[in-house]
Amino acid sequence: MANPSKPSGLGRLFIRKSVEQMHAEHEQGELKKTLGPINLILLGIGCIIGTGIFVLTGRAAAEFAGPGIMISFVITGTLCALVALSYAELASAIPVSGSAYSYSYASMGEIVAWVMGLLLVLEYGLAASTVAVGWSGYTISLLADLGIHIPAALTAAPGVPVLDHDTGEQIGVGIVNLPAIIGLIAVTCLLVVGISESALVNNIVVFIKVGVVIAFIVIGAAYVNPDLWSPLIPEQIPAPAPGTDMSIWAQIGRALWGVLTGADTGQYGVPGLITGAATIFFAYIGFEAVSTAGAESKNPGKDMPIGILGSLIICTILYILTCAVLVGIVPYNQLNNPAPIALAVDQIGLPWFAFVVKLGAFAGLSSVMLVLLYGQTRIFYTMAKDGLIPQVFANVHPKLKTPWINTILVGLLAMGFGGFMSLDSLANLTNVGTLAAFAIVCLTVIYLRFARPNINRPFKTPLFPITPLLGALMCIFLLLSLMAHDETRNFFLIYLAGGFVLYFAYGIWNSKLGKGEVVTGHEQPNPVQPNQ
Ligand code: ALA
Repeated sequence: MANPSKPSGLGRLFIRKSVEQMHAEHEQGELKKTLGPINLILLGIGCIIGTGIFVLTGRAAAEFAGPGIMISFVITGTLCALVALSYAELASAIPVSGSAYSYSYASMGEIVAWVMGLLLVLEYGLAASTVAVGWSGYTISLLADLGIHIPAALTAAPGVPVLDHDTGEQIGVGIVNLPAIIGLIAVTCLLVVGISESALVNNIVVFIKVGVVIAFIVIGAAYVNPDLWSPLIPEQIPAPAPGTDMSIWAQIGRALWGVLTGADTGQYGVPGLITGAATIFFAYIGFEAVSTAGAESKNPGKDMPIGILGSLIICTILYILTCAVLVGIVPYNQLNNPAPIALAVDQIGLPWFAFVVKLGAFAGLSSVMLVLLYGQTRIFYTMAKDGLIPQVFANVHPKLKTPWINTILVGLLAMGFGGFMSLDSLANLTNVGTLAAFAIVCLTVIYLRFARPNINRPFKTPLFPITPLLGALMCIFLLLSLMAHDETRNFFLIYLAGGFVLYFAYGIWNSKLGKGEVVTGHEQPNPVQPNQ
């Protein structure tokens, strides 16, 4: 459709798609609409429970928070609940496949949507690589239990020391993480075959994974030694300067400042709780992946909020209980292990169950890779439909009905990162990109409530504007605390700068909205549907 009033100059950068256009695209979409509320909750859980709880929790407890890791999980869970409410509102009002990218396009305009697209590549594409590295660790351990040993150099990224799973001694240095690459190849093939088939596999795997976590909580609870929960927050290291006999609020303020500026090591004490919260943030990533399936959902207005909030609530409860059992069985300072949950099970003298846990983690992390890669392909699909990236990303296979070339390219990208970057670097970058994306989503809710007060919102976030505002502030705080690390900050800023160059070299010239081929938000100031 021709757009007679194309904005020019700076206004061009903030050109907006109309919400009505997005509804029309949803109706005409080529992707099959097969997902109901249960499938969406399972999609969310499939993405949430993964490397975060199975791998990163141990390190976060040992190095940062101690038994207080339970509090770190509560802090991050609260942040994610605030963000999830914003996602639920947007996903029910704008049910399209691009998720946060599309919300930005409909509110703040094209340049913000582009930045969001860049952030989502970190949140999904890079996160898939991160999970592949965690998956690789469990796979190697599982194979070792079966007597199959992979050469150390093929089990980690270049330069990363490889440790023996039992003794903890260094046995070599990595060249490439081959199992991570193989895992990503398998998942890419499943996604090329099609979402219905993939959703079925996902559902089975989610049941196995949740079963293992619940079994760990129930069986492990009998072996918990409550003495290990104390002190809940071990002494800060190094100890704070003398003369700091402060109130709890002053301590929190000082800790926030220390974490933000990088002045505190973040080991134990209140700074440790915050650094722990930023580290295990990765464990919560995934509830928002439900929103990327908007175009394939049967009844998005009702089912998207159920999928997003339902999966987050279930996982938060499981996480806090898992942590309580974990630090109640193994002294926190011994938890820096690539398979901490299996270690805990070993300690209570149930080796068969440790094997089952590894098997569950193996299957569970596979499903996380699947959902993350799925999300990434759907975001690129939408961006290509909009002309911001080459059309080849929107080509749908005539028989399989999947964006197959897109899926293969995304898989290759993820393999490049997963095979050649360390777990810590990947997790930190994923966290930074995701926190920035979450903050923009919260701000988008606020913007749209004022700019488009009457669009149909089947779900509205309660306590507006406190919830989205608090969500955005908490995200920005944790983001800044991670940016205190030079490596993360430099990579992130260079990545964003490269993204802007791409936009001005390609996106701005090929954008369908910019060329007047799509209805913009400028043309339709009033909504078509009444508010409910
Ligand atoms: N939350 C997901 C995980 O922990 C990404 O693996």
